Amino acid sequence: MRILLALLIASAALTGQQPGWTPEQPWAQKSAWAGSRACAGCHAELYRRQEASNHAQSLRPPGEIKELNQGLPYAREDRASGARLTLQSGPMLVAAKDSQRQELALAWAFGSGKKGITPLGRREDGTFVESRLSWYSNGGFGITTGAGQREPQSFTESLGRALSERETQECFGCHTTAYRPGQQAPPARHEMGIRCERCHGPGAEHARVMGAANAPAPSRQILHPGKLDAPSQVQMCGVCHGRPPADSDVAALRRIEQSPNTVRFPSQRLVLSRCYNESPDGLACSRCHDPHSNVSASAADHDRACVACHAKPRRVCPKATANCASCHMPRQQVMLHSLFTDHFIRTPERSEEKR
Ligand code: HEC
Ligand code: HEC
Ligand code: HEC
Ligand code: HEC
Ligand code: HEC
Ligand code: HEC
Ligand code: HEC
Repeated sequence: MRILLALLIASAALTGQQPGWTPEQPWAQKSAWAGSRACAGCHAELYRRQEASNHAQSLRPPGEIKELNQGLPYAREDRASGARLTLQSGPMLVAAKDSQRQELALAWAFGSGKKGITPLGRREDGTFVESRLSWYSNGGFGITTGAGQREPQSFTESLGRALSERETQECFGCHTTAYRPGQQAPPARHEMGIRCERCHGPGAEHARVMGAANAPAPSRQILHPGKLDAPSQVQMCGVCHGRPPADSDVAALRRIEQSPNTVRFPSQRLVLSRCYNESPDGLACSRCHDPHSNVSASAADHDRACVACHAKPRRVCPKATANCASCHMPRQQVMLHSLFTDHFIRTPERSEEKR
C-alpha cells in the first residue's frame, strides 16, 4: 500500500498537475467563457492565423463553403440503395427512387476540406443524419467514407446514416469549442471549430485582468499549454488526437504498436517513440507544431525540431542530413481518402522488424 501510494505521488509529481486535472479541462482558472472573438483585440496576429487554420475551419455552415457549392447540382446513382442522390444548392441532399423522394437540408459541415468535408442535416424528429455524400480533396464528391461499406436499410437511410444521440454529441464535442455534453442547441457560429478557449479554457477573467488599467494581475487566469509537461500536453491534444494509455499499461501500448490503424492517432503513436521516452523533458506536440497554424509544408521546418535534439557532436543520422520525417515518420494510407503521418518515430529497420 505504501509503495503504491509512493508511486502515485511520484507520478503526480512527474506530471506536475494539480489534483483534479483532466485532459478535457486542463485549465485551473474559474471564469465565464468569453468567446474567441474576445481574444482578437489583444492577440490580433495570432487570432488571424488561428481563424484561418484547419482547427478553426473544421466545422462551418455549409453555405459558406466553396467546395460544397460549386458545380451544383451534382447527381449520382447510389448502387447500394438504388436511389439517385442529388446535391442541390442550399445545400440540400435529395434522394429519389421510383416515385419516392426525400430531402435533407444540410446545416453543419465537418472537416476543413484538407482531406474531406462531411455535412450533417437534421430530420424533423430531431435526429442528426450524416450525409451519404461527402466532398474529398482527392476526387470531389463521393460516397462518405465508411458509409460505403454499410448498405442503407431503408429508403430514408439512402440520404445518410442516422446518428445516435451519443454519436451526435461526440461529433460536436470534438469539432466545437465550448460545447458541453447534453447541450441541445447547435453551437453558435464563432464557437464552431476548435477555437481559443478549447485549449486555453474560459477566458473572460483573463480578458478582464489583462484589460484592467495598471493593476498588476497576480495570475493571468488563463492556461498556457506550452507550460504543461509533455505527457500532459500529449494527453490534452489526445482528447481529439487519440488519447494514449498510462505509461504503465504495457499491454495497451503494445496493442497500439501492433495496430496499423492507430497511425491516425498521433498522441498514441508518439508515446511509443524513444525520442519521447528517453528525452529528459519528454517531447510535447508544440515542440514540432504551432498549434495556431496548419502544419508547415516545408521539410526544413520539420527537420529543425529533430536536429535540435539530434545535434552534433553526436552523429545525427548515418543515412541523410535532411528530410528526416520522410524516412522516420512515413505517411501511411489508413482510409480511402486519408494519408496520416506515423508519429511513432523510429529507424526504418525497427519498423521492418514489426511487420
Ligand atoms: C485586454 C487584452 C487581452 C485580451 C482581451 C486577451 N488577452 Fe491574452 N494576454 C494579454 C496580455 C497583455 C498577455 C501577456 C502577454 C505577454 O506577456 O507577452 C496575454 C497572455 C495570454 C496567454 C499566455 C499566458 C501566460 O501564462 O503566459 C494566453 C494563453 C492568452 N493570453 C490567451 C488569451 C485568450 C484565449 C483570450 C480570449 C479569450 C485572450 N488571451 C484575451 C492580453 C489579452
Ligand atoms: C475524438 C474526437 C472526434 C470525434 C468524436 C469526431 N471527430 Fe471528426 N475529426 C477529429 C480529428 C482529430 C480529425 C482530424 C484527424 C483525423 O482525421 O483523424 C477529424 C476529422 C474529421 C473530418 C475531416 C476529414 C478527415 O478525415 O480528416 C470530418 C469530415 C469529420 N472529422 C467528421 C466527423 C463526424 C461526422 C463525427 C461524428 C460522427 C466526428 N467527426 C467525430 C476528431 C473527432
Ligand atoms: C489546439 C489548441 C489551441 C488553440 C485552438 C489555441 N491555442 Fe493558443 N496555445 C496552444 C498551445 C499548445 C500553446 C503553447 C505553444 C508553445 O509553447 O509553443 C499556446 C500558446 C498561446 C499563447 C502564448 C504565446 C506565447 O508565445 O507565449 C497565446 C497568447 C495564445 N496561445 C492565444 C491563443 C488565442 C488568442 C487563440 C485563438 C485565436 C488560441 N491561442 C488558440 C494551444 C492552442
Ligand atoms: C526532445 C528531443 C528529441 C526530438 C525533438 C527528436 N528526438 Fe529522436 N530521439 C531522442 C532521444 C533522446 C532518443 C534516444 C536515443 C538517442 O539518444 O539517440 C531518440 C531516438 C531517435 C531515433 C532512434 C530510434 C530507434 O528506433 O532506435 C531516431 C530514428 C530518431 N530519434 C529520429 C528523430 C527524428 C526524425 C526526429 C524529428 C522528426 C526526432 N528524432 C526528434 C530525442 C529527440
Ligand atoms: C477539440 C478537438 C481537438 C483538440 C483538443 C486538438 N485538436 Fe488538432 N485537430 C482537430 C481536428 C478536428 C483537426 C482536423 C481539422 C480539419 O482539417 O478538419 C485537427 C487537426 C490538427 C492538425 C493538422 C492541421 C493541418 O495542417 O491540417 C494538427 C497539427 C493538430 N491538429 C495538432 C493539435 C495539437 C498540437 C493539439 C494540442 C495542443 C491539438 N491539435 C488539439 C481536433 C483537435
Ligand atoms: C533516406 C531515409 C532517411 C532520412 C532522410 C533520414 N534518416 Fe535517419 N536513419 C535512416 C536509417 C535507414 C537509419 C538506420 C541506419 C543504421 O542503423 O545503419 C537511420 C538512423 C537514424 C538514427 C539512429 C542513429 C543511431 O545511431 O542509432 C537517428 C537518430 C536518425 N536516423 C535521425 C535522423 C535525422 C535527425 C534525420 C534528418 C536530419 C534523418 N535521420 C534522416 C534513414 C533516414
Ligand atoms: C517530432 C516532431 C513532431 C511531434 C513531436 C509531433 N508531430 Fe505531428 N507532425 C509532424 C510531422 C513531420 C508531420 C507531417 C507534416 C507534413 O505534412 O509534412 C505531422 C503531422 C501532424 C498532423 C497532420 C495529419 C497527419 O497525420 O499528417 C497532426 C494532426 C499532428 N501532426 C498532430 C500531432 C499531435 C497531436 C502531436 C502530439 C501528440 C504531434 N503531432 C507531435 C511532426 C511532429
